[in-house]
Amino acid sequence: MIRTIREAAGYYQIILENRTLSELVRKQNEELHEWNSNLKSRVLEQTAAIRNNLSELHQLNEKIKNTYNGSLLAFSSLMELRDRESRNHCRNVAAVAVVVAEKCGYKPDEIERIRVSALLHDIGKIGNSDTLLQGNIDTFLPNELQEYRLHPVRGQAAIDSVEDLRTSGILIRHHHENYDGSGFPDCLSGEEIPHGARILALADAADRIFFTVQGDNGIEVTLQGISERLGSKFDPTLFPHFVPVIKEKYRSLSKLDGMIEMELFPGELRRGMQVTHAVRSGTGLLLLGAGEVLDEWNIQALKRYYKLDPPEGGIMVRFKK
Ligand SMILES: [Fe+2]
Ligand SMILES: [Fe+2]
Repeated sequence: MIRTIREAAGYYQIILENRTLSELVRKQNEELHEWNSNLKSRVLEQTAAIRNNLSELHQLNEKIKNTYNGSLLAFSSLMELRDRESRNHCRNVAAVAVVVAEKCGYKPDEIERIRVSALLHDIGKIGNSDTLLQGNIDTFLPNELQEYRLHPVRGQAAIDSVEDLRTSGILIRHHHENYDGSGFPDCLSGEEIPHGARILALADAADRIFFTVQGDNGIEVTLQGISERLGSKFDPTLFPHFVPVIKEKYRSLSKLDGMIEMELFPGELRRGMQVTHAVRSGTGLLLLGAGEVLDEWNIQALKRYYKLDPPEGGIMVRFKK
């Protein structure tokens, strides 16, 4: 009987312990569940925070990219401000060189390198005298020619302190090398000249020839002028890529009936010029429709808009030169 009572007490003890343990397990399960749900909400919170940071980073990246692009355009415009004849020259060279680079199968980062080099290719001329800027290379005196020939090296040196631009600096240095080795500054020839610099040389010359030519057949004269110097000045393998690009780019700039069409900024507009493309403010407001003839009132209005809500680039107008 004593043994039976002991055994019963023992069982009772086990039941009590079992209950305690079950309670403990239940509590631990509850805690675990709570932890789990906390963890889930913490993961969700952190994911949302990471997403927010990413979008801020993306916005910041876009801002840096815009600032970078703006700075490049500002640098290239510095040159064009001093030399009125070179109006839009760097941008025209960049537009043509980029399309040719695409046709040659360049990768996006290489195309960007070409664009940057084209925008800044003549930045080394900034210290040149007005005589050099406005003069013709064929009539330069020996000392003027010597000074002129320094601009590719000066251009490379000017951007050397910006690490990301150094590869473009190499193309800038060699944009006046000739295919036969008679160019400057390093007298490189053929394949020794970086391919991008050969593209720049051709795009640069095409824009110069086109704007020097007087007459209605600017594109033909430009292409003729280049084809005569293939193998001596320019890489002949690039010419087939250039022909359609030059035709397309300069078609709208060709002189028609004695008129010339070009991009001008408000300070350069004159009464009687005809707007050839609709003009919108920076935020997209239509300021003038294509075909409108400028008078004093809309020239003043455009000047004000260019201060308040500036559009990108200038205004395309047609006028008698
Ligand atoms: Fe140059
Ligand atoms: Fe140039």
